[in-house]
Amino acid sequence: MAQGVANVWWAMFGFFTLVLVVVSAIWIYAMWRTPRQVSDEDAIRINRRWVIGGGIVLPTVSIVLLLLFGIPTGRSMLPLPVEGEQPLRVEVTGHQWWWEVRYPDDGGIVTANQLIIPAGRLIDVHVTSADVIHSFWVPRLGGKIDMVPGRTHVMRYQADQPGVFRGQCSEFCGTQHANMVLHVEALEEADFERWLAARRNFSPAAPTGEAGTVFEARCALCHSVAGVSDGNRAPDLTDLASRPYLGAGVIANDHEGLRRWLQDHKSLKSGNAMPLHDDIPGETLDGIADWLETLAP
Ligand code: CUA
Repeated sequence: MAQGVANVWWAMFGFFTLVLVVVSAIWIYAMWRTPRQVSDEDAIRINRRWVIGGGIVLPTVSIVLLLLFGIPTGRSMLPLPVEGEQPLRVEVTGHQWWWEVRYPDDGGIVTANQLIIPAGRLIDVHVTSADVIHSFWVPRLGGKIDMVPGRTHVMRYQADQPGVFRGQCSEFCGTQHANMVLHVEALEEADFERWLAARRNFSPAAPTGEAGTVFEARCALCHSVAGVSDGNRAPDLTDLASRPYLGAGVIANDHEGLRRWLQDHKSLKSGNAMPLHDDIPGETLDGIADWLETLAP
């Protein structure tokens, strides 16, 4: 898909460079040559020729040529019916400032800030928003699409090769718009199936002791973890430990990063909706962090 967009871009670039060169050449010639005396009727006739040629024929031909390039590329991104293997459906919802990702056909798997897809297969991404307008954009996979509250837009993608691609919200959506990064990973089809199965069968143990009490009283109100809690206002944490970043790209998801995020997320990402739980004793926070680190299917 990105290849198609790139082709249209290069075609436009090449074509309009040609237009620029031709128009500049005519313009320079017009300035350089000695004016010739013509009658009023001749002047009108010559002007009319230039208006029709340069003002109507040339733009019409240019636009038609570009449409011939553009329309098929645009069509290839539409979720039109296909024969054979059906596209994988994923649902991505924009939030201030994170991404909710669902796989409705695969046991309702939910994750956040990461989109795992099979390489070499069509993916229909259904996007919407829970609050303001965001925009789904993974530059190396091609087209960008707005995420509008109350509407669902669909765009079709395909990653030809396995790899990691960076997605970024591309519609200004508030102070942390820049910190709305989506980690996209395309896996070999077999690895993707393994990932799906592992996610489906993953049932983490609930946290115990003081950490468990605090998790249940606070974190669980907003966050869900499969089989443990079902909050629905914040990112699902079921596979948190398998994600490369915290806070939608703000900080690396390692032992250090997780503790820093829990203690200091307001300075890492000011304005984020998570309350600052700075009254929780350090060792309880450590207990919660230790448990969160086990959340890897
Ligand atoms: Cu979401 Cu910008």
